[in-house]
Amino acid sequence: MADTLTITDNRTGKQYEVPITDGTIKAMDLRKIKHGDDDFGLTTYDPAFMNTASCRSKITYIDGDKGILMYRGYPIEQLAEKSSYLETAYLILNGELPTTSQMASWTREITMHTMVHENIKKFMEGFTYDAHPMSVFVSTVGAMSTFYPDGKDIFNAESRHKQIVRLIAKVPTIAAYAFRHSIGRPYVYPDNDLSFTGNFLNMLFKMTEVKYTPNPVLERALDILFILHADHEQNCSTSAMRGIGSSHVDPYSAMAGAAAALYGPLHGGANEAVLKMLQEIGSVANIPAFIKGVKEGNGRLMGFGHRVYKSYDPRARIIKKAAYDVFEVTGKNPLLDIALELEKIALEDEYFVKRKLYPNVDFYSGLIYEAMGFQMAMFPVLFAIARTVGWAAQWEEMLLDDEQKIARPRQIYTGYQSRDYVPAVLRK
Ligand code: CMC
Repeated sequence: MADTLTITDNRTGKQYEVPITDGTIKAMDLRKIKHGDDDFGLTTYDPAFMNTASCRSKITYIDGDKGILMYRGYPIEQLAEKSSYLETAYLILNGELPTTSQMASWTREITMHTMVHENIKKFMEGFTYDAHPMSVFVSTVGAMSTFYPDGKDIFNAESRHKQIVRLIAKVPTIAAYAFRHSIGRPYVYPDNDLSFTGNFLNMLFKMTEVKYTPNPVLERALDILFILHADHEQNCSTSAMRGIGSSHVDPYSAMAGAAAALYGPLHGGANEAVLKMLQEIGSVANIPAFIKGVKEGNGRLMGFGHRVYKSYDPRARIIKKAAYDVFEVTGKNPLLDIALELEKIALEDEYFVKRKLYPNVDFYSGLIYEAMGFQMAMFPVLFAIARTVGWAAQWEEMLLDDEQKIARPRQIYTGYQSRDYVPAVLRK
């Protein structure tokens, strides 16, 4: 059996054979299908990229029907249980888990780059007190390109590595400064004795104590959340990272765009939206009316549904467990009962079952973050810290891929054909 597709163009009666590789045909192979000499050739129309592979990637595998997520072949469940965020970051970037000595030098490298230039601090001070921390984050990541002009040297492997280390190491510092800024507290410098997430908690929550000691349960829960969010193949923000990066701009500018994409409520802003929704529902008794409203088209059940997962989001299961560990320390989030009941009803309701709508990663993450003391506006920032490694790895893979060029989709033009300019006085 040949791995080809035979296409008959009924406009001309001509037949074409195009190869099938890895379950895909090349859109460019359709260009030869023309109905006349001046015809441009057949193109595909795929708004929102519902059925288009934009790259070959070795980084993350998702089977949405089976609820499988793997980084470099390792199941997310094993990484969440046994690995750390920094180890997973190494894996995502380099393709293999580090040896003990590789891990030690990687940890040291990241730890040595946690501080940001004092002018970045000053730059951040310029934002108004009520500036959304995610807007502050997006702007500051973009501004990093002015501090590290060597970031432009994108085809130099050593330079790329340096920028990636800077990004992974400095995003928690920027995020923590954005948080402290929004609540009017002085910024806290990194503490290099602490772990990646331990230091992050230090920069967020340290008060007057000489040394901050993170709670190990919260430190680990945050680490797990970061592992779960580290990469998710060609989602909206990663596609933005690749798309912007394909113009060969520096990674800071590309990542500002990726982070901006993450800010939207249908993507990284979803956990904030979940919490707002739970607060609006207010009590278990109000759930049936809320579900009825969603089914009638009044808004969506936030934290439910996914473009790719059509059985269960494996990350949601891990997060639900982590939530209980956190609540043991912080006390139960009062919104948990509403969330649990909402999940129960939605999983039984025909509307959601028929559309394969299950809780996604964001359904529970917001509850954990709130219990840990984060304001809602920080949720997308936390997502961005974790996703930095995914963006960086996908950006580098794109740059080194000979098949990639500047991203430039086509369109179907539906506007006017040529018409003559009308002077203002003659316009109706
Ligand atoms: N609540 C109610 N109905 C929904 C929901 C929802 N959360 N999600 C999808 N539907 C319905 C939708 O109305 C449509 O119904 P119909 O066929 O009758 O028109 C059907 O399900 C298919 O929806 P879709 O919009 O075509 O699906 P999509 O793949 O384009 O959207 C999604 C995926 C995640 C944007 C969407 O499910 C959604 O808006 N969910 C809520 C927001 C959310 O939780 N986002 C976080 C995603 S996970 C984190 C991340 O990766 O960023």
